[in-house]
Amino acid sequence: MTVCEYKPGLEGIPAAQSSISYVDGKRGILEYRGIRIEELATKSTFLETAYLLIWGELPTKEELGAFEREIYLHRRIKYRIRDMMKCFPETGHPMDALQTSAAALGLFYAKRALDDPDYIRQAVVRLVAKIPTMVAAFKQMRKGNDPIQPRDDLGYGANFLYMLNEREPDPLEAQVFDVCLTLHAEHTINASTFSAMVTASTLTDPYAVVASAVGTLAGPLHGGANEEVIAMLEAIGSVENVRPYLEECLQRKTKIMGFGHRVYKVKDPRAKILQSLAEKLFEKSGRDKYYDIAVELEEAVEEKLGSKGIYPNVDFYSGLVYRKLGIPIDLFTPVFAIARVAGWLAHWKEQLAENRIYRPTQVYSGRHDAPYIPITKR
Ligand code: SDX
Repeated sequence: MTVCEYKPGLEGIPAAQSSISYVDGKRGILEYRGIRIEELATKSTFLETAYLLIWGELPTKEELGAFEREIYLHRRIKYRIRDMMKCFPETGHPMDALQTSAAALGLFYAKRALDDPDYIRQAVVRLVAKIPTMVAAFKQMRKGNDPIQPRDDLGYGANFLYMLNEREPDPLEAQVFDVCLTLHAEHTINASTFSAMVTASTLTDPYAVVASAVGTLAGPLHGGANEEVIAMLEAIGSVENVRPYLEECLQRKTKIMGFGHRVYKVKDPRAKILQSLAEKLFEKSGRDKYYDIAVELEEAVEEKLGSKGIYPNVDFYSGLVYRKLGIPIDLFTPVFAIARVAGWLAHWKEQLAENRIYRPTQVYSGRHDAPYIPITKR
């Protein structure tokens, strides 16, 4: 076996062969099953995109209709899961609540038949349908309220916003949110998807796979960055303070949240679309003062770090959109998870098709034949 050179974080090391999505980091291109993200963002819907990612082709009208009906039918969560969620501390982070409740689904749907296409479809439908309900339910419960039941007459994104705020979103809000879900659905072998694949490769259940991925997405270097970006913009406070703030970060060598990417060395194509969605919402409901700070920060970071390929990533503008949609800041990453369940499940399914358990090797840097020293002599 030729042991290739060890690369921290497996940078540049292929960990799978996949046909689900493709990223060209130099040209800023993202494709889902070969279709450009810009096409899907303007012409598709999240559920149609989820179907494309998971089953590999765009659905016919009948296939999409059947998938949507199944999702709408399975949105509710069992009362025992709601009762369990009522015991969660209201101070807990919503990503921890989501990871716990996603894993709990495995308790209620314990049957495991990974070679049965019906079982695979059932698990896909349950997870895509129930994750939004669980995110919205925790938000209500931590305020001491009963969760708001899903409405069968609302689309996927609109129903989530309704369960979250007990207000039916207007058509523009619903459409913008649905595009946000499409943009966040999949992104090759990112950290949380890799977690999903490693967990899937042991042939455990799909609920454990998603719970594992949720835990990984929560970190501030990954999906948790969208929440950090808003905190950073608030800390900057004004356009005038952008450059002094950046200077200080550079001095301290602290990372600027929402910037940089392991693969993209230009502006993330998703950030461009999210920026235009933010501007669309501002036209209707007024500008967010933090948007001007964000635009100024993007310009300042490009001046200082553009030569290193540090540009806005998907997390930089998403929070400004979510705030306008009435989504609380600590629910930004759970919203990322709602969308990314589609990508995680697509990779779960692809992994099962030609599975080999993940077990990489290591470069050992420890000792050999060390003596055991009795505690009295240490
Ligand atoms: C997501 O993988 C995916 O596809 C993820 C994602 C998806 O859809 O699944 O796109 C979603 O996670 C987006 C990233 C969100 N995270 C953040 O915004 C956090 C801030 N970004 C950084 O932590 C960083 O850019 C990462 C984690 C995203 C990427 O890290 P890398 O590839 O390991 O890069 P690195 O830390 O090795 O940095 C390389 C150089 C360093 O400088 P030098 O030490 O070589 O001089 O670039 C610098 C870093 O200091 N750098 C930054 C920076 N990101 C990298 N400097 C300042 N601010 C930053 N944000």
